[in-house]
Amino acid sequence: MIVIIKDDPERASQHVAEHIIRRINAFKPTSSKPFFVLGLPTGDSPRKVYSLLVKRHQAGDICFRHVVTFNMDEYSYRSFMYEHFFSHVDSEPAHINLLNSNSLDKHTECLEYEEKIRRVGGVDLFFGGIGPNGHIAFNEPGSSLASRTRVKTLAYETLLANSRSFAGGVNSVPRLALTVGVQTIMEAREVVIIATGANKAIALQKWIEGGVSHMQPLSRLQRHPHAMLVVDKDATLDLQVRTVKYFNSIETVIPGT
Ligand code: GLP
Repeated sequence: MIVIIKDDPERASQHVAEHIIRRINAFKPTSSKPFFVLGLPTGDSPRKVYSLLVKRHQAGDICFRHVVTFNMDEYSYRSFMYEHFFSHVDSEPAHINLLNSNSLDKHTECLEYEEKIRRVGGVDLFFGGIGPNGHIAFNEPGSSLASRTRVKTLAYETLLANSRSFAGGVNSVPRLALTVGVQTIMEAREVVIIATGANKAIALQKWIEGGVSHMQPLSRLQRHPHAMLVVDKDATLDLQVRTVKYFNSIETVIPGT
């Protein structure tokens, strides 16, 4: 796992956006692999990344016609994705995959989502964020590290954190959500996570310096061969000085990684 430490959320977002652009532009569609498959998150942290991708698309630097997307999780994120990203780029509607949280048969909806990912050849790059309690997508602490797409009950602190987007406060936040599983994310060929702000510092410390545990579902990424975590300085507040020093030195050796 590589950790890239940037001064602030803007620079962290810039790094992630440039990385995604580089990967998509390097992808050459063939008849057997016609699409670059991109996993996408929601939340405040990726918002800036989306606005940078939109800007670069408008400048003609990146197109999304050969990109199939799969959103990580869903309970009311469809409008977020269209507002911040899909409405402003040239994604084919048929290439946009979002879990349908209104489905009457949520179990089948989740199985079919996994099947769709499999049919397009798996995810090339899963871009994600983390919750203050260390959740990834909606895999809350205690989630199986072998989990696949399914319905999850949200933790109380997630309801509190997400209540900022609901006019009716914490009681109006849906208790259940559909989410890809930890194993689904692990099977992506590359995983890029953005984590910014002091409220992510404790989760980040446990994830990077602690062991693999289902109480920190993201920690399973320690076993992923191509995982990159992009953070700002505030998110590193609970890391040991030696950890920060080491990862800063890696960035010096491999600029732009
Ligand atoms: C929600 C989403 C997660 C996201 C998290 C962090 O809970 N389900 O996928 O990573 O929020 O959001 P933010 O970046 O706003 O802190």
